[in-house]
Amino acid sequence: METKVLVPTHENIQYVANLLADGDVCGIPTETVYGLAANALSEDAVKKIFTVKGRPQDNPLIVHICSLDTLDTLAVDIPHNARKLAENFWPGPLTIILKKSDKLSATVTAGLDTVAIRYPSHPVAQQLIAAAGVPLAAPSANLSGSPSPTTATHVYSDLKGRISAIIDGGACEVGLESTVVKFDDDGVTLLRPGAITIDMLQDVVNNVTVADGVLNQIDEKETVLSPGLKHTHYSPKTKMVIVDAPLAQFASFVNAQTDQIVGALVFEGDEVHINIPSISYGNERDSTIQAKLLFSALREVDELNADIVYARMPSQKGLGLGVYNRLLRACGFEVITLTT
Ligand code: TXA
Ligand code: MG
Repeated sequence: METKVLVPTHENIQYVANLLADGDVCGIPTETVYGLAANALSEDAVKKIFTVKGRPQDNPLIVHICSLDTLDTLAVDIPHNARKLAENFWPGPLTIILKKSDKLSATVTAGLDTVAIRYPSHPVAQQLIAAAGVPLAAPSANLSGSPSPTTATHVYSDLKGRISAIIDGGACEVGLESTVVKFDDDGVTLLRPGAITIDMLQDVVNNVTVADGVLNQIDEKETVLSPGLKHTHYSPKTKMVIVDAPLAQFASFVNAQTDQIVGALVFEGDEVHINIPSISYGNERDSTIQAKLLFSALREVDELNADIVYARMPSQKGLGLGVYNRLLRACGFEVITLTT
């Protein structure tokens, strides 16, 4: 199958929307990462997503909508807190978990009685959903296990020959997948940190807690709140470890390694202090830039041809928590802390 990469003209958006309405799967831009979209109301179309991505059947998909009204057709018993968050942060990089309506098949929710819903802010995503005339189920458009795609080129390199079209909407503004939250009587639980930060959530609702799997590795067999938390993610083939240390100590540590081939994932400007091959993921003090660059950087890690790659530790404040969470997963939750 030839995979067309299309610029987002009105005709191309209509063309891809027609493919989606006819049950095809296509790569689409969003403000977070590229999505692999299909008609969320067609069981056959949704099944194709799992096949194309090689996604485990027990990992449910996010359903993308383009108006607040659609929410009430896809979900039931919507809590007050969910409405407040939707009104404040939609359209935008927030996904909310709700009790699903009968309109959605068990395939899209991987058998759960809840559904993840998001109203993206990217104009091309909104136009595609509107033109397709159906909500779109879309996981990140990478092969399962590899870093999420933040450019159309990433999607093409993972999925060429497997899908008929990708709309190229440029580099994604955020670069990390949406913030995912669920609700219960006590408040809101953060399942995946992203551009809608804990502080932003707390400005709107009370009692925001962070799910265990965000900062700690969860037992594969354990039942978890979000199935996505248990799957290994974003991993280059090369072994990676986070090193929690200021630059000078990081540099002495990596420069002293001689018994294996070592690479580094560092901040901009660090390169001059280390004598091993490295990749930068942006300014040490700028989580926004780190979020934009991290997944591209992780895609390049294997090109260092190292036995092990040591990564500098990002800040965990604001969007930094999302950056740290993705890097932790890429590193299999391995962190070395160097003390003075
Ligand atoms: O930014 C994003 O959210 C991107 C773009 C394309 O919108 N999509 C994305 O989808 O990241 P995906 O499939 O890669 O991640 C969806 C996450 C997974 O961790 C999944 O387990 C969780 O959401 N999820 C989906 N449905 C759920 C549910 N009913 N309950 C709990 N977690 C759910
Ligand atoms: Mg994903």
